[in-house]
Amino acid sequence: MKQLIKLNINNIDYEVSVNDNDLLVDVIRRRIGLTGTKKGCGEGSCGTCTVLIDGKRALACLTLAMSCQEKKVLTIEGMEKNGELHPIQEAFVEKGAIQCGFCTPGMVLSAKALLDQNPKPSVEEIKYGMSGNLCRCTGYVKIVEAIESAAKTMAAPKQGRK
Ligand code: FES
Ligand code: FES
Repeated sequence: MKQLIKLNINNIDYEVSVNDNDLLVDVIRRRIGLTGTKKGCGEGSCGTCTVLIDGKRALACLTLAMSCQEKKVLTIEGMEKNGELHPIQEAFVEKGAIQCGFCTPGMVLSAKALLDQNPKPSVEEIKYGMSGNLCRCTGYVKIVEAIESAAKTMAAPKQGRK
């Protein structure tokens, strides 16, 4: 049976009619039209569907949309502010950490959750923190480098940087 629910996504309130078993990834992509969140395996293995729910990493392919009422969902579309990329996004571009880009939205959101919790992670901590996100295109060296670079940028005084 369909129910009208309220979802807060990227600080915007949406009202959507959903079934009890509708998945967050499908509601975000098909109903709300935010297609930056990707659906890869659809079974919790690849991390492409990663979003943040109340600041914590979540797999949108394993999350019921219904369970996200009264919570704040952040998708890749919410990372840029006033037309400027988030430092993590900039670092991914600058370090060449994006190939096909399919895994990138989930990578960026996992990196945000990691750096919000641990602003100065070691390489091992970055690897561990990103271990739920798979990239099929290449190795992970550039992704780790991008996150290290973003951590430095985010730790720097805000003056003079975006
Ligand atoms: S699509 Fe959700 S983990 Fe792969
Ligand atoms: S950039 Fe292609 S899967 Fe990661």
